[in-house]
Amino acid sequence: MRAITIPQPGGPDALIWAEVPDPEPGPGEVIVDVRAAGVNRADLLQRQGHYPPPPGAPEYLGLECSGVISAIGPEVTGWAIGQQVCALLAGGGYAERVAVPAGQLLPVPAGVDLVDAAALPEVACTVWSNLVPVGRLNSGDTLLVHGGGSGIGTFAIQFGAALGATILATARATKHSRLRELGAAHTIDYREQDFVEEARRATDGHGVDVILDIMGAAYLGRNVAALATGGRLVVIGLQGGRKAELDLGALLTKRASVLATSLRARPLTEKAEIVRGVRDEVWPLIEAGRIRPVVDRRLPMTEAAEAHRLVESNDHVGKVLLTVG
Ligand SMILES: NC(=O)c1ccc[n+]([C@@H]2O[C@H](COP(=O)([O-])OP(=O)(O)OC[C@H]3O[C@@H](n4cnc5c(N)ncnc54)[C@H](OP(=O)(O)O)[C@@H]3O)[C@@H](O)[C@H]2O)c1
Repeated sequence: MRAITIPQPGGPDALIWAEVPDPEPGPGEVIVDVRAAGVNRADLLQRQGHYPPPPGAPEYLGLECSGVISAIGPEVTGWAIGQQVCALLAGGGYAERVAVPAGQLLPVPAGVDLVDAAALPEVACTVWSNLVPVGRLNSGDTLLVHGGGSGIGTFAIQFGAALGATILATARATKHSRLRELGAAHTIDYREQDFVEEARRATDGHGVDVILDIMGAAYLGRNVAALATGGRLVVIGLQGGRKAELDLGALLTKRASVLATSLRARPLTEKAEIVRGVRDEVWPLIEAGRIRPVVDRRLPMTEAAEAHRLVESNDHVGKVLLTVG
């Protein structure tokens, strides 16, 4: 098969579409013939040599894909050759074929086309696992989503709104109208406005119940300041650095929590549990049309370098997809 290889880590032009050995399905795995793969922020880091795949994961880029099952390994039940699926991956989506642990497969939701389904697994699993079991988001809560225009952000706005939360989202101003269409009640231009002040204004001074954060260190103090009593700050990205000072007094007074998780390196059993939760609680919302994949653009896999340049520029809204065949 062919896959995107990285002979030398570096800029987008380090990505080379080349012949590589075909994957074989191990016990508990299926082979998916890839139709499309989602581009994720983490792929840019891996391309630069900063985010190696966890042990046992395929060496190629790609944390999610959609496609058709073409082979089934031993000990797999409930899936059939020819079935259209999408999948959460620890790697290997930027390829013509990938071996996938069966617990990480999801059916293509009714009403979503096969290519667009590649936009769903990583964001659905990340957002659901961080907002529901970790962040304990409830109907009636206020949720602040940083990076509202990102793949993660566009999904979190829709999912939070579908759960009955009031959504605040930060993004550059040009993205605000899209975020409001997706369900954000308040949009904040983080370049011009103080999000702590805006969050207080939008909540009559109470602060927000949950924050889904992708900025890490750069926003830590201000995020804690923006929380309501009993609020939960869930950090999933470190785009603004990893080390910062934390005023525990501020947390203590608010009885608030700071939580942080990452999905990729979790054991298979935990990923399968998250995928089950997503299938039970998120897929029905997609099939009812209350959440839709937000796809900025589809590009052929051979233009992976162009896709990385686009994501690096942050000019996209939602997901960028790479198509195969
Ligand atoms: N922990 C996990 O398991 C996990 C899983 C998946 C993703 N993530 C993380 O989630 C984040 C989003 O991933 P993605 O692939 O969806 O990203 P993406 O589509 O590449 O988007 C990145 C976003 O960051 C925004 N941004 C940049 N500076 C900002 C600032 N100062 N304040 C607010 N927003 C800012 C940009 O929006 P503007 O144009 O508005 O600046 C852009 O929309 C990444 O940090 C990624 O590593 C974590």
